[in-house]
Amino acid sequence: MSTGNLIAPHGGTLVNRFAESNLTEEATSLPKITLSTKQACDLEMIAIGAFSPLTGFCKKVDFESICNDMRLANGTVWPIPITLAVDEDVKATLTEGGKAALYHEDGTFMAIIDCDEIYAHDKSLEIPTVFGTEDEAHPGAKQVMDEGEWLIGGDIHVATVTPEVDPGEQFTEYRLAPAATREDFANRGWKTVAAFQTRNPIHRAHEYLCKCSQEICDGLLIHPLVGETKEGDIPADVRMDCYNTIIDNYFVRDCTALSVMPGAMRYAGPREAVLHALIRKNYGVTHFIVGRDHAGVGDYYGTYDAQNIFDNFTAEEIGIVPLKFEHAAYSKKAQGMVSSKTFPKLEGDQIFLSGTKVRELLEKGERPPAEFSRPEVADVLIEWATSTVTA
Ligand code: ADX
Repeated sequence: MSTGNLIAPHGGTLVNRFAESNLTEEATSLPKITLSTKQACDLEMIAIGAFSPLTGFCKKVDFESICNDMRLANGTVWPIPITLAVDEDVKATLTEGGKAALYHEDGTFMAIIDCDEIYAHDKSLEIPTVFGTEDEAHPGAKQVMDEGEWLIGGDIHVATVTPEVDPGEQFTEYRLAPAATREDFANRGWKTVAAFQTRNPIHRAHEYLCKCSQEICDGLLIHPLVGETKEGDIPADVRMDCYNTIIDNYFVRDCTALSVMPGAMRYAGPREAVLHALIRKNYGVTHFIVGRDHAGVGDYYGTYDAQNIFDNFTAEEIGIVPLKFEHAAYSKKAQGMVSSKTFPKLEGDQIFLSGTKVRELLEKGERPPAEFSRPEVADVLIEWATSTVTA
């Protein structure tokens, strides 16, 4: 099959872990592991090849190498360990060298894992290296703190990535796997594609980054993360309405693709920026937008840490080109979006709004200024915010 454009998947081969045979019967005789939401997201990402070259959950040698050196043991760049953590009581049911059946929390049988290794979850290595903090207030670090004390390492054989309940949140129409996304780019005749990762509605600064990228690439892929996010983030279904609204009103559909990335957010800032870039490379994307404090939360990371981390690797090792953007905002004097690279900083000239302030306005049914958010997008958000408040 032609992969269309010119960028190779990370590690050279696009992984596909869907089993050709029916695994249901074998699963019934195996010990059972119920996946957390994050683990189910990771399972899907491995299965569809978005995490190529990973073929399963992390073994010990890779876990240590990733945490210490941001590489798999074979030297391939990989910034965050993709782990299957289980509690002591589940571990007691497993045998090293055996297999286990993986289930969605709604009871759907999803996959079988080869339990090649069962090893202690070294959180004191993972948390500070991946997140740069051991603060419980960091949502990604806290999530790992709460995970099981044992890790299962081995390949997965996947029956399905689609749970039986909640089909409304599957975004089936937009859930294009890497191979299908590559085909879509080929059909559109795009050789260079910029991807925009986001976990928020598209505001004016986001739009500016997207449009600058459109000027230098054949196409733009708006690629929102719709896997697990933290409480307080805007739900993915509301965001999808916002994306379609802004594309319809302010983008050129022929030059703009929209599909979803089913991964879970880790809020690991710089390391997650590298992960986000490698994922998009697997989707056939050639350029990846990295703005200010990419994948950050609170003030754990410096504004441009997520850009500078790319300097640790050669361009060949990463493959996809990071498009680094300065902090952008609307300037009243310039009457448009600017950054410190394109317009001088003038006292009181630029429009900055905190997330909390925006939320307050929306809940009161008030639109944030048009310089911050397009009114059509604000209306979608007001409808959601006011219905949540009154619900
Ligand atoms: S993220 O967790 O997905 O990074 P968000 O959806 O806010 O969060 O950001 C999407 C992308 O836009 C990231 O690359 C981020 O760095 C960038 N970004 C967000 N706001 C700005 C801004 N005002 N100026 C420059 N880049 C920005």
